[in-house]
Amino acid sequence: MIFKNTLFFGLFILINILKAYDFCKDNQNILEKFNFYEGFGGKDSKKKLYVEDDLPYISYQKKTTDNTIDQFLLLNMCGNEVDVSNNKIDFSKYESKSIIYGISKLESGSVYTDVINILNSDLDTNKVTLKEINDAYTGLNVFIDNVKSNAFNITFQCDNNLKHDEFGKLEKKESFDIISKEASNVWTMDIKGPSGCLTNDKDNKPVKENPPKKSKHSFFTYFFIYVMLFTIVYIGASSYIEIKDGGTLQDFEDVFKYKFKELMFSIPAFTKELYNKIVGNNFTRYTPTNNQGHNNNDTRSGYAAV
Ligand SMILES: *[C@@H]1O[C@H](CO)[C@@H](O)[C@H](O)[C@H]1NC(C)=O
Repeated sequence: MIFKNTLFFGLFILINILKAYDFCKDNQNILEKFNFYEGFGGKDSKKKLYVEDDLPYISYQKKTTDNTIDQFLLLNMCGNEVDVSNNKIDFSKYESKSIIYGISKLESGSVYTDVINILNSDLDTNKVTLKEINDAYTGLNVFIDNVKSNAFNITFQCDNNLKHDEFGKLEKKESFDIISKEASNVWTMDIKGPSGCLTNDKDNKPVKENPPKKSKHSFFTYFFIYVMLFTIVYIGASSYIEIKDGGTLQDFEDVFKYKFKELMFSIPAFTKELYNKIVGNNFTRYTPTNNQGHNNNDTRSGYAAV
């Protein structure tokens, strides 16, 4: 009995040594529920993936007071072969089967100061926690702890409106463990896109579509405001000129009111004319008439072109 148990135990250990951890294969039952599994090539480990079309990556610059640092980060969760001909990311330090690859270098320099290369073989079941999300949104959280002094909290958030996964957020926090005297980084990444969506599409929380930002005020609103201001200023000025010599404030008010009332009745035609002129790219200055409509040889009543 003891012998049998020892044998099984030994076999168990042996199998686990021989069988290296594989993030996608070892978590297939969960990953398969999401587009994640197929998207990252879990179904076919021979499938070559293209950075631009298949994998979430981010490239950005970090500016310090005296330097600019170029940073690149790529997720290749199933460790498939990556097409490295893409020139946005330098793959010179990339190792095949790398699932998280990040580099940074001084913009001016050629030496990579900081390389992150997390391989499948750096992981094991104790370091990886998967959490399915389906409350505020549908998604999958992958937490990878304690690999090469890094922890990764990666949330794949379902967004079926996107064709590929995209970085929505990237945060790096440095922490220092007083007891072990070790520094480590905690990376928080939000990836939006199809990978976080369930393959059974009807169980996905619908993603709020961001409507294209539309100007609240249409061209016509501004046009109308413009016309009103123009008109009021014009009537004010012309009324002032008319009563300037010896007129009282009351005279001004009377003239202003009269002109304003007169204009109100002619505004539809006036507006149309003005609009046609502006849109017709042939803007000439129009002024409402101040001769009370006696000078109308043309068909426009109530205003005249100057
Ligand atoms: C991962 O990040 C989210 C917020 O982005 C947080 O709610 C969650 O607790 C984090 N998970 C871990 C294990 O730290």
